[in-house]
Amino acid sequence: MSKKFYVTTPIYYVTDVPHIGHLYTTVAADVLARYHRLKGEQVWFLTGTDEHGQKIQKKAKELGETPQQLADRVVERYKQAWVKYGITHDDFIRTTEQRHKKVVQHLIKRLMDSGDIYLGNYEGWYCLPDEAFWTETQVVNGCCPDCGRPVERLQEESYFFRMSAYGDKLLHHIEQNPGFILPESRKNEVVSFIKQGLKDISISRTTIQWGIPMPPDPNVTREHKVYVWFDALTNYVSALGPLDGDEKFPNFWPQAVHLVGKDILRFHAVYWPTFLMALGMPLPKRIVAHGWLLSGSGKMSKSLGNVVNPIELADEIGVDGVRFFLFREFVFGQDGEYTKDTLIQRVNADLANDFGNGISRVCSMIIKYLGQGPLDLNTLLTEDSELRTVAGQIIPKFHEELEKFAFERALEQLWSLLSSVNRYIESNAPWNLAKEKDPAAQDKLKKILMHCHESLRIVSLCLLPFIPRSASQALSFLGDKESEKTSSPMDKASWGKGPQKVLVSKGQPLFPRLERA
Ligand code: MSP
Repeated sequence: MSKKFYVTTPIYYVTDVPHIGHLYTTVAADVLARYHRLKGEQVWFLTGTDEHGQKIQKKAKELGETPQQLADRVVERYKQAWVKYGITHDDFIRTTEQRHKKVVQHLIKRLMDSGDIYLGNYEGWYCLPDEAFWTETQVVNGCCPDCGRPVERLQEESYFFRMSAYGDKLLHHIEQNPGFILPESRKNEVVSFIKQGLKDISISRTTIQWGIPMPPDPNVTREHKVYVWFDALTNYVSALGPLDGDEKFPNFWPQAVHLVGKDILRFHAVYWPTFLMALGMPLPKRIVAHGWLLSGSGKMSKSLGNVVNPIELADEIGVDGVRFFLFREFVFGQDGEYTKDTLIQRVNADLANDFGNGISRVCSMIIKYLGQGPLDLNTLLTEDSELRTVAGQIIPKFHEELEKFAFERALEQLWSLLSSVNRYIESNAPWNLAKEKDPAAQDKLKKILMHCHESLRIVSLCLLPFIPRSASQALSFLGDKESEKTSSPMDKASWGKGPQKVLVSKGQPLFPRLERA
């Protein structure tokens, strides 16, 4: 039985069209999904849209359409963006789908039956844009402690979820499972939040029409809708068809890795696990929080008018250029400043120059000095071990870093092999060896070029999750069209594990240089 990997993105609000912040999480999930597939694992990758709640109801009203019309229109924008970026999700869930609603209602009913959801009265502060309730002490000068926008006083009959009963159990789980919340610094924030004591939270609304109805209850007179965060978080489970006897649920659920922005970590690392504990369900394996992409000094948002449209960006820069930049430039857990200039510099320096030129330079020299081939790769196993040693060091590190979601450090490993290749070419000067006629020089020339070739083949394979189209093209120029087709291509990203004979071709430039604006 092959290993299982389940990765999710947050489900995106349909009040906003996709921007580069949404792209960031989605490509991160795609890199991981592709990486684990390339390791021969069974992968399930879920994304989708969050379509209920007051925010959507309000926005639809402003636009003079129904919430469903708004959702139907905006969801297409997300789907188009993901096609453009080659996102390989296995499923796309919308919270307005029947398959989702029935799971939400089923789980709520179970919690009502067990007494973990009870009826009471709610009075508190509500942040409409965040759909979050805050206590008196949490509110900062009449504003939401998370987003800084004004909160409203709200009183209503409400169902409550007994979150207070699960704080200790959750702390214990976090302690016993290092890596449950990543990165470590964010885990510490969550732990101190839980240690302040968890309060029961309001889990239904009577003020909202656009939501999933709570199960019928003779004790209430008004209709209650399920709190939008309970509704939204449940998508990770409902998409696996738990009530339909679908094998995906037992197979994938315990392997779940939730990628989330730091702003929604609390919902994922406190609310969601306590819901699951109350339901007696296993918790996800990891919750990984990333930082924000900032533009100027602030977060990108439509209201600030500083959003970057991913489709336009792809048309201008190229899909792989953007995908690469997001993970080479920014440290995943931290905020990063986005500018077009740094994007162009990265693509030119790292992709056009180091990688693209590296490939075409080595392929050209092979064709010019050795002929097109097929070339015998037995030359790789010689006493000259300079590049082999570097490759032997960086490959395990590459995997280690990716397993830790340190995308930027994983890429750094590959770039250190690329610069070793460059130095190796300069110090061995194949062009001088090519002028010498004696067989020893010819033999050395062949070995040198094949060592460079092997290093680039390994780098290209490792780059497949990040820049799938260009890395695949690079492999084809290098004459390795087989590794990608095997059941576990990542195993081929190791010295001497490629095909025995390769036919190199000169190919086209992989990344044309971009002009700076
Ligand atoms: N609908 C909720 C998530 C429910 S998940 C059960 C939501 N949606 S959102 O559309 O507002 O945001 C989705 C994700 O996009 C969040 O993880 C958020 O952090 C991320 N980003 C939004 N803007 C961002 C940046 N500027 N930079 C990086 N990520 C950001 O929250």
